[in-house]
Amino acid sequence: MATVDLVLPHHRYTIHIAPGLLADLGTLTRQAAPHHRAALIIDDKIIDTHSQAALASLKAANFDPLAATMTAGEDHKNLATVEKLYHQLLDQRLERRSPLIALGGGIVGDTAGFVAASYLRGVPFIQCPTTLLAMVDASVGGKVGVNMPQGKNLIGAFHQPVLVVIDTDTLKTLPKRDFICGLAECVKHGLIRDPDLFDWIDQNIDAILAQDSATLVELIERNVRIKADVVMEDEKEAGVRAHLNFGHTFAHAIEAGTEYGRYRHGEAVSLGMIAATRLAAASGRCDSTVADRLVSLLNKTGLPTQANDLPPNDKLMAIMRSDKKVADGRVRLVLPDQLGKVSIVNDTPDDAVAGAWDSLRA
Ligand code: GLY
Repeated sequence: MATVDLVLPHHRYTIHIAPGLLADLGTLTRQAAPHHRAALIIDDKIIDTHSQAALASLKAANFDPLAATMTAGEDHKNLATVEKLYHQLLDQRLERRSPLIALGGGIVGDTAGFVAASYLRGVPFIQCPTTLLAMVDASVGGKVGVNMPQGKNLIGAFHQPVLVVIDTDTLKTLPKRDFICGLAECVKHGLIRDPDLFDWIDQNIDAILAQDSATLVELIERNVRIKADVVMEDEKEAGVRAHLNFGHTFAHAIEAGTEYGRYRHGEAVSLGMIAATRLAAASGRCDSTVADRLVSLLNKTGLPTQANDLPPNDKLMAIMRSDKKVADGRVRLVLPDQLGKVSIVNDTPDDAVAGAWDSLRA
């Protein structure tokens, strides 16, 4: 088993990574948040495949678990779902010391995490992610929240988990397209902070795509370590944590501009990272070989590297200006200086951004 410790001034937790780890969920939960009750919030896509193992493990560790499900779509990541979950927890008399466990992808983790942050003013939260994207990004670092009609993730909190349990075997039932989407965040981590990881993904791409068990544990451990390091440096996104938004301002415009129907988040991030890197190369900020290496690696993963069906630039740029990462009305972009190093840039001219969008349609 691989473990990564995330240590903050007033809180610490361990991220455990291994195949078959759902069998140990109960024991690990008992060590991190001992109580007689627990709530397991389950992604409805995985009820048949993984919930029995999780519930059996909790019962074997002497928990009396409440099982609640939620539909894992962006249109269910909202306050109506949160309210429904509050009612179930209250009806079942879950207490302030009862841990709440999210079993599923990022949508379930974010929503259940917001419930955990606010139910009885906060209960112990455990992340048990079952998608690659949630394993390497969303489950670590304590960002929880829900969408509003006005935009994604506009209501939320920082509520760090007390434990993260990553069973890499759950990836076996994840659709291939979703698995590949998780690789976008892995490539991102390499590009913003760790050239060795970038090269390692390139060299091991066949074993990663074949989901070789030891390679997956190493991939996830290396990525979780980067995410944990960033969060330990800057828990509340006052500085360096914003580097994790590399490619995301472009990606959110792609997702919103196509009504969230055409591109998965990871696919939009792939395109967004290319746009940001080409913009940086075109303005002399980084060498053009960084963009070439990024496109080459993303091609190997199977993520999209061009898109001829994007909305017009004025629509995409209007969405970028309404993004919550806008500061004082100016679009904030994370742009590479070199492979492994990025900066936050506030003053990118519109024509440079338009050029980056055009480069994706070529
Ligand atoms: N997913 C970006 C962050 O956790 O800050």
